[in-house]
Formats: sequence, C-alpha cells, structure tokens
Amino acid sequence: MAQIRALRRMASLLTTPLAPEDFLALVNPLASTRQLRGVVTKVVRETADSTTIHFHPGRGWNAHAAGQWARIGVEIDGVRQWRSYSLSAAAGHDPAITVTAIGFVSTALARDTKVGDILFLNVPQGDFVLPAHPRPLLMLTAGSGLTPVMSMIRTLVPRRPDADVVLIHSARTAADALFRDELLELADQFPGLTVRHWYTREEGGRRLDLTDPTDLETLCPDWRSRAAYACGPSDFLDAATELWEHSGDDGQAQLTIERFAPVLLPGTGGAGGLVTFEKSDKEVEAGGDVPLLDAGEECGVVMPSGCRMGICRSCLTPLVAGKVRDLRTGEVHGDEGELIQTCINAAAGPVHLDI
Ligand SMILES: Cc1cc2nc3c(=O)[nH]c(=O)nc-3n(C[C@H](O)[C@H](O)[C@H](O)COP(=O)(O)OP(=O)(O)OC[C@H]3O[C@@H](n4cnc5c(N)ncnc54)[C@H](O)[C@@H]3O)c2cc1C
Ligand code: FES
Repeated sequence: MAQIRALRRMASLLTTPLAPEDFLALVNPLASTRQLRGVVTKVVRETADSTTIHFHPGRGWNAHAAGQWARIGVEIDGVRQWRSYSLSAAAGHDPAITVTAIGFVSTALARDTKVGDILFLNVPQGDFVLPAHPRPLLMLTAGSGLTPVMSMIRTLVPRRPDADVVLIHSARTAADALFRDELLELADQFPGLTVRHWYTREEGGRRLDLTDPTDLETLCPDWRSRAAYACGPSDFLDAATELWEHSGDDGQAQLTIERFAPVLLPGTGGAGGLVTFEKSDKEVEAGGDVPLLDAGEECGVVMPSGCRMGICRSCLTPLVAGKVRDLRTGEVHGDEGELIQTCINAAAGPVHLDI
C-alpha cells in the first residue's frame, strides 16, 4: 500500500499541474477515477422522437436494478449539462437510456449522440423497482414513462416462467409507441406477458382515463388484485394516485409511481426578485415561479443539477442572503449558509447565492 502511495506521489510530481488520473482519462476516458464515464456502444432510433443510447460504463459504475435511473452528463457547446434518465436495458446487461426529444438536453442527446461518444455518469439510483417477491403486476405507462417499466419487463418476463404481467401503454399512435414490436414479440413468446396498447388518435383523441375505473375494468378486469406500477405525465400519475387511493382499504399500498417532473403546487409563485450568483459575477431578475436553477442557467451560470425535481440533492447551493420559496409547498425559507435545492426553489425577493 505504502509503495503504491509513493508511486502515485511520484506520478503526481511528474504530471503536475494535472493529476495522473487526468492523463489516464486522456488515454482511456473510462479509467478516470474523478468522474464516472461511459462510452456509447450503440444508438437505436426507436420512434420519430426517441432514441436508445447503449453505453459501456467505466470504473465505479454499479449494476442497475430494473427500473432504476441514473444522472447522465453531456457536453453541449462546451458546458456539461446533467439530466436524469431511466435505464431501459434489462438488469445484468450494459445500461441503455431511451431519450425522448422534448427540450434542450434531450433533443441534443436523442439527435446527435454517436457510437464512441463519451457520457458522464452517476451511479444508478431509485426505488421504482420490482417487488422482492413475485406477484401479479399491472404496469401503467404513457409516452416515455415506459422506459423504466421496459427494463422490468425485459428482466422479469424471459427469466421467470411464473411471471404474470399486464402492461397498459398509452401513446398517440402505433408509430409513437416505444418498443412496440419487441413488446408484441415478447407477449407472443411468453404467456406471462399481456400487452394492451391505447392509441389516443385511434380512440378519437380520447386519452386513457384513470379518473374513474371504467377503462381499467375493460383492459385489465383484475387490476385491483395486482401490484401496480405507473410512470408517465404528471396528470396521468395524479389520476392513478387518486384512483388507487379510493379503490379499497389497501389500494394505495399497491401502486408505485415514478415521476419525471416535480409536483409543484399550482399558484405557489409570488413576487420574484433579483438573483445574484456571487462567484460567477452574474445577476438576473427572476420570476417567483422560476426555479433558481433555470434562472442561473438562463444567464450562463454553470449550475450543479441532476434530477431537476427535488429528489437527488445534486443542486444544493449555499444561500448567502435573501429568502426563497419552495415551489412544491409554497413555504418561504432561507437562512444564511442554508443549502438550497435550486431546482425546486424560486426567489422570494432579492437572493444571493454562493456560486
Ligand atoms: C427519475 C427520472 C427519470 C427520467 N427518465 C427519463 C427517460 O427515461 N426518458 C426521457 O426522455 N426522459 C426522462 N426523464 C426526463 C429527463 O430527465 C429530462 O427532464 C427530459 O429529457 C427533458 O430535459 P430537456 O433538457 O430536454 O428539457 P428542458 O429544456 O430541461 O425542459 C423540459 C420541460 O419538460 C419537463 N419534462 C421532463 N420530462 C418530461 C416528459 N417525459 N414529458 C413531458 N415533459 C417533461 C421538465 O420538467 C421541463 O419543465 C427522467 C427524469 C427523471 C427525474
Ligand atoms: S437537481 Fe436533484 S434535487 Fe435538485
């Protein structure tokens, strides 16, 4: 151990001002111990808007459980941007993400990623995972919400002859439905998987309605007895949560949901204020409903971020002065030195941040 430490010290002296890890990263980007990375091994266009990016992670990656997500960093115009993506590959395989182009980072990832590109990574996390003991499952998904569930289906269905999974997936049209052919093949091959697609356009524009049980009774009559997992847009998940809450004594215990965006309290934004990013020497007038993270990025501050919805705490930034409003609860808070989650707090008057 002492010899290894001495060798590292010598290497450091030779490579100063860069650390030996920086040189290693130049030769083999996956060897970096400073920042976990992955190399893109395959890119598959799934639909007009969605792309699956397979990658081989470097040292420090932990194998993912089906349904988990990871923070993915990508450099766009020289700035490293971080977003969270569910891992759509089966557990036990190299990871993949399936990105739907809806905004700044997702569009760059979905449209521009090539084999050989390097992605920056954080280890997988999240508790939207399969139950510890096998039981009949109902998967309710819409749009890109299918991605974590696809990992669960790919993991469970081919390996467990006792699997009993009903998937109800909603998409605008068959052409927009992610993984459609693979799901139909799996359902043909394995009697434990039933796939029901709901195409909004074919239903005359009517969306799958979870505000009452009628659609579910038709698509999956025994839905109440299954452990349910749901992932999709906020209103879809809000309706599912409400339906399960009112579906029986232990109904709520059976629904597990995964959100891609935070639940904000409507009308929480009050007056905003001037936000000063002290170390970056930047300031911007921000509305009372604009997360400090967005305000910072808008004026060119490199803000730390991850999930952008208040769960990963990657965005914590020290408050120097002022008060902020939690957009999930409306609570106004802020003491000097307090670490602020910039993704779910907005200015409540003038704010100074130590970044
Ligand atoms: C745990 C977790 C898992 C996720 N998994 C996936 C995934 O597997 N595939 C995927 O494409 N995205 C996924 N996302 C969303 C992803 O992190 C980004 O928010 C999304 O790609 C938009 O980023 P952007 O920079 O392109 O958009 P931005 O320019 O940052 O903003 C776009 C806006 O769209 C909202 N938004 C985020 N996701 C959606 C959505 N699916 N539909 C509609 N609006 C949305 C954001 O809250 C934001 O307000 C996940 C998010 C979380 C927190
Ligand atoms: S970015 Fe994850 S908590 Fe703010």
